[in-house]
Amino acid sequence: MKHEIFLAKTFAKFEPLLQNELLQLGARNVQAMSRSVQFEGDLSLLYKINYCSRFASRVLWQVKYFNFNSNDDFYKEINAFSAEKYLSRSGTFAVSCTASETIFKTPLFAALLTKDAICDRFRDIYEQRPDVDKENPEVQFHVHIHKNNAILYLDSSGDSLHKRGYKVSNHPASINEITAAAMVALSGWNGKCDFIDPMCGGATILIEAAMQALNIPAGYYRDKFGFFNWLNFDRFTWKNMINEHAIQDDIPIDLYGYDINPRFLGMAKANVEKARLEDFILLNKRDMRTVKPKRTPSMLIFNPPYGERLEMEDNNIFYKEIGDALKQNFPQCKAFLISSDINALKNIGLKTCFKQNMFNGPLECKYYGYDLLSGKFAPTYQSQHGDHKINSKKKC
Ligand SMILES: C[S@@+](CC[C@H](N)C(=O)[O-])C[C@H]1O[C@@H](n2cnc3c(N)ncnc32)[C@H](O)[C@@H]1O
Repeated sequence: MKHEIFLAKTFAKFEPLLQNELLQLGARNVQAMSRSVQFEGDLSLLYKINYCSRFASRVLWQVKYFNFNSNDDFYKEINAFSAEKYLSRSGTFAVSCTASETIFKTPLFAALLTKDAICDRFRDIYEQRPDVDKENPEVQFHVHIHKNNAILYLDSSGDSLHKRGYKVSNHPASINEITAAAMVALSGWNGKCDFIDPMCGGATILIEAAMQALNIPAGYYRDKFGFFNWLNFDRFTWKNMINEHAIQDDIPIDLYGYDINPRFLGMAKANVEKARLEDFILLNKRDMRTVKPKRTPSMLIFNPPYGERLEMEDNNIFYKEIGDALKQNFPQCKAFLISSDINALKNIGLKTCFKQNMFNGPLECKYYGYDLLSGKFAPTYQSQHGDHKINSKKKC
């Protein structure tokens, strides 16, 4: 297959994680940029990255690169692109645009010109044109313009890849799935010791951790990707790729989720069931300050309330109590937590072994790790609970 150029988008600070992941998935000429990583490969790699990437939010395929000096030039270049190879004359499409230092006053104008150029081409060839659907287009184009250079992309993902397909219930302060996956990866957890989210809300972190431990692809629960709608979609290559992906159906560890709020635990339960991970993720109502690990070492990863989306009485006192609980109840464990309340974080009162800035949606956060051990962190042991099966009765 021909080698193509792709651009995978991600969130600020996750570029190195994404770069490394793309290399492992077989991408070539991988170059990290700001909130994106460019790489090369064929269309089967594009399918694979949409299906497997935990850190990409979408993947764009560069279908045309050109220079232009006027509106007319721009129109002609887009009009010459064979959009009919991907989009049906009776289909729907949308165009988004980013532009800087260009002749166009607004990106919207460039997007409209792109739309006209595509529609006129269809009218000339078929006397029929596809419709624009901004909400739910079958084919999404993106134009990126800088000065007099333009790149036309096809968006292969459709909905953002953080929409994994397992969230049936949305916690009001739920963490983004890509951020949760990055938190697990950055902690160095290797799936060989128990995992605890003591303030689990809708269970995003637990589900992302279980998916990593079981080698479940990030896109496993999704029922569609943007490229499914392209006229050149190769269903055979897609099916082969997903069938080759081996999922582990048993692991000798448990994942525990606790929350003080029964309503939120209900949401966690619904999401865990949708992901068919109830044999692995054990949920209970509990105050974090009373939780103890069933086995040590264990890994704790959580996002306590920041007071932004959930009301808090006093973050400073609460974070001090979290720090005390970690110190007293979790010897020989590691704990990682994310928060946007930098002052409250100081009240944890433990020495950090890991620090990284990151975002949770628009919120600028700190992600801190604490080594609570007195002794070695050597995470390997056998399951207490016997056999687990991800797909016990239900087919995944
Ligand atoms: C920011 S939310 C976690 C969101 C979660 N990571 C998700 O993606 O859905 C914080 C959670 O901590 C819970 N919580 C607050 N105080 C708690 C406590 N003392 N013990 C256990 N859970 C607590 C809240 O009920 C809330 O669900």
